[in-house]
Amino acid sequence: MWGAALLAGALALLAWCVAFLRRRASHWRARGLPHLRPRLLFGNALAYALSRQSCAQLLEDAYRRLAGHALGGFHLLWRPALLVRDPALAGRLLVHDFESFRDRGYRPFDPMLQDLFFLRGDHRWRTLRESLEPGFGPKGARYLFFLLDEMALRLVKVLETPAERCLELEVFEQMQRFVIDTVGTCAFGVEFETMLNYDSFVLKETQRMISGSFLKKIKKTLLLAVPETARAMGMRFVRPEDAAVFRWLTAEIVAHRRRNNVRRGDLIQLLMALAAKEADAGQKDGFGGEMLSAQVMLLLMLGRQKVAAALAFCLHLLAAHPEEQTRARVQVDAALRRHHQQLSLQALQDMPYLDMVLSETLRLHPPMSNVTRGCTAAYTFRGASRLGDGCLRLQPGEAPVMVPVCALHRDPAYFPQPDRFLPDRFAPDNASQHTPYTYMPFGAGKRSCLGEHLSLVLMKTTLARLLSRYELFPSPRTEYPSPVDPRQLLLSPRDGLWIKISNRHWLPCD
Ligand code: HEM
Repeated sequence: MWGAALLAGALALLAWCVAFLRRRASHWRARGLPHLRPRLLFGNALAYALSRQSCAQLLEDAYRRLAGHALGGFHLLWRPALLVRDPALAGRLLVHDFESFRDRGYRPFDPMLQDLFFLRGDHRWRTLRESLEPGFGPKGARYLFFLLDEMALRLVKVLETPAERCLELEVFEQMQRFVIDTVGTCAFGVEFETMLNYDSFVLKETQRMISGSFLKKIKKTLLLAVPETARAMGMRFVRPEDAAVFRWLTAEIVAHRRRNNVRRGDLIQLLMALAAKEADAGQKDGFGGEMLSAQVMLLLMLGRQKVAAALAFCLHLLAAHPEEQTRARVQVDAALRRHHQQLSLQALQDMPYLDMVLSETLRLHPPMSNVTRGCTAAYTFRGASRLGDGCLRLQPGEAPVMVPVCALHRDPAYFPQPDRFLPDRFAPDNASQHTPYTYMPFGAGKRSCLGEHLSLVLMKTTLARLLSRYELFPSPRTEYPSPVDPRQLLLSPRDGLWIKISNRHWLPCD
């Protein structure tokens, strides 16, 4: 009798689940929106969940299949999502109608994800953003330039031996080491020495968290697509032991400052000042403690991964394109001559071709393949639905809205011969012809990348230093274009990025 009751209960639960999934799968059909037909459980994300497709490929595929529509629906597992294909509409949502799209469209339950990137777009996000902005803009770059350049020179030094022997180098990992050290020195005021120490604790811990496996990808897909269900299943983006590492690291950084009375206008100082101000005002749950650790983690994980990928792809592209490499180097040499061999922010301004090279790199390989927003106030998309008056009224929390940055960057309608590396697309006269909101490696609007200016200064400084000293060549392991790793959330190379490096004026290595 108990067995029959259990079986009946299980069948009733199964029937409820199927009805629920069917209702979810018919979400966009019922709203009359052009959409991709979803599978019952996986929606349109089966290949993505199984690590056969990266996020960029998933969205490029949806972008292609929804051609002809400004807006279309698809499903991430059983969660309905919206794809914005039309750049003008993307600009409207991200910039002009920001008040209706203040969130990221993902509700993190992890305390360690209370960072500026994931915070909901409320007063806490605004306070944090306004407090940090001065440190990341042109004033911050002027203040930090000396240190950024010092780090670039350390990288040049580390590469001396491989360059003398004309060795093969995997630049993605090398750039990650470089960026971790730069973040340590410039944002936290500590020396991680990851470039020198191949057994570095910080590198090992952060690599362990990023490393992709089949199961991890399924877990991440659940956490991103259906966070409530993932939470009910006891899943977390950041495992308690990983969170503990970042708490410990943050406490060490703060203690180091207090012990040595370090006072510099860097990120940690800005955050500590904000926490102290809130504590003085008697505000509980302020920006100290867990919030501080969350920002440290954001920088060491997300910030590091994005800058390292952009720099590594750039070196890889220059190795595969000798003419563009030579043109960049000639301009670096000329600018340095003009500035008496002193690299400065003014000297960087005389190297516009490096900006073009970096822009074209970020067009081909935007580290974040999409920009996502959550609807925070009901919003009407006119002319989107085939039903009734043709309007689609999106309710708060109904579906994340995704702008497929990578797909727009590779659409031949906006960038002819999209797979070719052509920095001249970004020459001032050509760049002004680009359709607005078709090029957005740093996102757009009030939630655009906080680190944009500093990242560009760091990347340009590093390129100038490397090109003035070394030459880059393809190696037998250079794969061009390089395959992407479908297990990673951010755009990353699957098998690393291999090049050969040699001192300048040497004959190319065979
Ligand atoms: C090449 C390097 C980088 C690229 C391509 C990049 C790209 C992006 C993109 C696409 C977004 C989302 C923007 C949007 O939703 O409109 C973003 C957000 C953000 N990025 Fe970056 N990023 C880079 C480096 C960094 C670095 C080094 C930091 C370190 C501080 C950083 C901090 C942030 C923060 C805090 C946000 C969230 C801003 C907010 O929600 O208010 N990024 N980034």
